[in-house]
Amino acid sequence: MLISQKLGHRIIRYDTVTSTNEVLRELAQEEIEPGTVVVAKVQTKGKGRMARTWESPEGGLWMSVLLETEKNFENNKFGIIPLMSGCAVATAVMHEYNIEAGVKWPNDVLINGKKACGILGEILNVGEKQLAIIGIGININNKVQEGYEFSQVSTSLIEERERKSRIEELENAILLEMNHRNEMLAAGKYDELLDEWRELSNTLGSRVKITAPNEEFEGLAKDIDENGSLILEMDDNSLKTINVGDCTHLD
Ligand code: BTN
Repeated sequence: MLISQKLGHRIIRYDTVTSTNEVLRELAQEEIEPGTVVVAKVQTKGKGRMARTWESPEGGLWMSVLLETEKNFENNKFGIIPLMSGCAVATAVMHEYNIEAGVKWPNDVLINGKKACGILGEILNVGEKQLAIIGIGININNKVQEGYEFSQVSTSLIEERERKSRIEELENAILLEMNHRNEMLAAGKYDELLDEWRELSNTLGSRVKITAPNEEFEGLAKDIDENGSLILEMDDNSLKTINVGDCTHLD
C-alpha cells in the first residue's frame, strides 16, 4: 500500500452531484492524487450496495475517498478496506458524541443498534495503478425516509441525539480516523484492523439471515476470516464462509 498523501489533503466540495463515488471515479482518470476526497451536500443518484439507490438529501454527509494500493496488494484483502472504514466512522461518532456506535457486517455502522451509515467500496484500475474508492454515507441532520424497505432498521444522528450535529466536524474526525487505519493497512497490520472490527461488531454472536445473490440462509455469526468474509455456523454445526450478501440480525 502506498501512502503518498494524507487522506483529505485535498477536499473537493460540491452542492449537488449524481454520486460522489462516480465523480471521484471520473476525477481519478485525470491523475488526481490518492487521498483526495469528494464531498457533496446532495446526491441525485446516490449508490448503495447490491445496486440499490441511496437517499442523499441535504443534511447528511456524502463523501468518497480515493486510496491507492500497491500492485502486489492481494485482491482478496480489499474486503478489509470497507471494514476498517466502518471502524473509523463508528470510532469518530463515539468520540464526537459520546453515543453508542458499532459495525454490522459487511459495511454498515449502527448507532444504538440501527443503521446510520453505509459504506460502498469499489475497486478501480487506472493505467498501472490499483485504486479503491470508499464511499461513506451518514444520515446526520436528515431524518430517515419513511416507508421504504429499511426504514424500521435505519436511523440518523438527529433522531438519536435529538439535536443537530455539525457535518464538517464529523467529516474531519472521520478523515483522521481513516488516515490512521490507512497507515495501519500500509504497514500490513491486517490482524489489528480485523480485531478492531471484531471488537466493534454488533454482528458476531448474533443469529443472522444472509441474503446472497442466489440464495438465502440462516446461521450463527461466528467470526470473520483474514479477508473480512463472514463465517457462519450452520444448524448442522458446519461452517460456511460468506463473501457477499445482505445480513439481517435476527436477535
Ligand atoms: C449501502 O449501505 O448500501 C452503501 C451506501 C453508500 C452511500 C455512499 S454516500 C457517498 C457515496 N456515494 C454514493 O453514491 N454512495 C456512497
